[in-house]
Amino acid sequence: MSNEKTRDAEALPPHKTLTTYYDSDPERSAYVHDLFKRTAPHYNTIERIFGNGGLAYRRHSLRFNGLRPGMKVLDVAIGTAAVSRGAVKLVGPTGRVYGVDPNEGMLAEARKNFSGPLTRGVAQALPFKSNTFDFVTMGIALRHVSDLKATFSEYHRVLKPGGKVWLLEGHVAKSRIGHALTRFVWKTAIPGLTLLFTRDRDAKLLMDYYWDTVEQCVPEEEIVTAMASAGFEHARVRVTMPGAFCEYKGQKAA
Ligand SMILES: C[S@@+](CC[C@H](N)C(=O)[O-])C[C@H]1O[C@@H](n2cnc3c(N)ncnc32)[C@H](O)[C@@H]1O
Repeated sequence: MSNEKTRDAEALPPHKTLTTYYDSDPERSAYVHDLFKRTAPHYNTIERIFGNGGLAYRRHSLRFNGLRPGMKVLDVAIGTAAVSRGAVKLVGPTGRVYGVDPNEGMLAEARKNFSGPLTRGVAQALPFKSNTFDFVTMGIALRHVSDLKATFSEYHRVLKPGGKVWLLEGHVAKSRIGHALTRFVWKTAIPGLTLLFTRDRDAKLLMDYYWDTVEQCVPEEEIVTAMASAGFEHARVRVTMPGAFCEYKGQKAA
């Protein structure tokens, strides 16, 4: 069996097949690509519904987690540069932020807010040399990769010894009331507000898809185990805003 087949057999997809959106798992990445291509121009409008609070959140969290002046950062799934904009401020003129994303529509939107290097590529096969970055970031995109194991192994590979990974993800509260509340906010209120502000059905569909993938995502513990298996030390998850955000972190051995 070839290496590729062995890897596929052991792949860990971030969620089960969602037949409301596509018929089988091999169709998922094309579906996601097309959805983000169609909605890229609306992504910043969706951020503005939250008063751009998500941008401030990302910047503060990166500072809290050790992003410092002079560091070399890879922002995977850069999207419209919601993470990179904060990272650029934190690393200052002596540092450098690189953005990577498979979607040409998103890269075009990123270019409006970000002047650093942009590359087309996917998290599970990064087009960068080993031992290159001090920090790897990924903002609310882990559910879109084809294989969590391959993704974490790539993050580990491109980090320098001692380098850190920071992943922001959606969070679903576990208690019955918490789950119902999270569901109401993300399944009903936010897609409704998105339709109201953008007047675009695809933008609403993006938020519907967001909720379904967050709710169906593999358990947090499984993600942490996959990070540790890829070689990350101190792999852990921290719920930073119950019902909204959690963060996965780890470090490559120094
Ligand atoms: C919800 S946006 C996140 C943008 C930004 N990181 C943020 O924090 O808001 C998800 C991004 O993931 C990208 N994406 C989808 N599949 C991917 C993959 N396999 N590897 C890397 N990025 C991917 C999409 O093109 C899109 O730009």
